[in-house]
Amino acid sequence: MTRLNAYGFRGNPFPLTPEETVTHWAGRKDIRHRMRDIVSSVLATDTGLSEFVLLVGPYGGGKTHAMRYFSNLINETEKESFKALAIYIPKLQVSPEIGFLSLYFQIARRLGYSFFKELGRKVRENTKVPGPLDRDFSPMIRLLLELEAGNDKVFDYLSDGKPVIEASGFDRPIDSDFMAIWALSDLIGAMTVPIGNAGPIYNAVHLFVDDMEDIIKANSAEQLGFWQSIRDFFDRHPYRLALLLAFSADAALLEAIVPEAVAERMSRPPLIFRALDKAEARAFLEAHMKAFRVRDEALGPFHPFTEEAVDVILDRTDSLIPRKMFRNFRAVIERAIQREGLAPDEAISRAMADQIMVSMGI
Ligand SMILES: Nc1ncnc2c1ncn2[C@@H]1O[C@H](COP(=O)(O)OP(=O)(O)OP(=O)(O)O)[C@@H](O)[C@H]1O
Ligand SMILES: [Mg+2]
Repeated sequence: MTRLNAYGFRGNPFPLTPEETVTHWAGRKDIRHRMRDIVSSVLATDTGLSEFVLLVGPYGGGKTHAMRYFSNLINETEKESFKALAIYIPKLQVSPEIGFLSLYFQIARRLGYSFFKELGRKVRENTKVPGPLDRDFSPMIRLLLELEAGNDKVFDYLSDGKPVIEASGFDRPIDSDFMAIWALSDLIGAMTVPIGNAGPIYNAVHLFVDDMEDIIKANSAEQLGFWQSIRDFFDRHPYRLALLLAFSADAALLEAIVPEAVAERMSRPPLIFRALDKAEARAFLEAHMKAFRVRDEALGPFHPFTEEAVDVILDRTDSLIPRKMFRNFRAVIERAIQREGLAPDEAISRAMADQIMVSMGI
């Protein structure tokens, strides 16, 4: 997107999906505050109580943006204060089959070999801290120690389910939801529970699973099995786990998707990403465009759009959802440049915006 650089932007300010690494927040402050409260309160240094929360709202409402923003905050921007691990899974896979097992493999593969190797090193360090004489390490700790000692088959086992590592305590292949729950639980335990007298490696683990809505494509037995696994998994972690699941769906449909036994375990009501009102939409747009602006010229907060052009585009957008807004702003700016020959210091007037939108039938 070089064309918009001339207009003072560092890239395309109106993307249909967020960038891989999200560092700015332009959306509703209440959502940001609630998300921050969730990711902070699970920390060992805070209440430490686990959280299980759904993010629900229309397509393009900002769920992925929120998940990527907070993953990046935890893993990068504020990593020194969090000392936690955020794992972002972009999509709950439905094929070849849906289930906790496939979620587990997605997590293990996303973490990757170097992550496990480094975790093994940290575990080794912690086992050196003097503790009770007879230390009975969990199977996962034993596996990680073996990986650190040079047995790379451990990574194959953890990310593929085979081959079984003799004498590790995990004496079966990871090939069922049952084994996957055990493996993931033990892994999170190894990361968040103090080993002997050493502190925990992470203050918490945050698991973000995006695009969960495809679960409704699975048959009812698979859906039930998946939810049962989520329930068993969450029950094993009363502390230091944040489990956040995103659904593109109407909040009213949630009851039909999530069984009561699971809903009942949620630590708070779902975060609803609803459409914005006009004042919120203007504030959102202004903050968002600012994050993409390289030249901070005194040409107004919406340049190259005039305030009046912003008004008319918002009025013609049927529902003020971030992606719908972006799509229309993008359409107008591209046509203004390409067809109306808009110069970089020129502004898009109300009449121009109106005429472009009418010509598009919006
Ligand atoms: N808080 C925000 N700050 C800045 N931009 C945002 C914010 N929320 C959403 N956006 C932007 O709006 C667009 C749509 O958001 P996003 O893709 O996160 O929606 P979604 O709810 O995940 O949609 P879908 O249900 O289709 O996956 C993206 O370009 C995203 O970067
Ligand atoms: Mg999304």
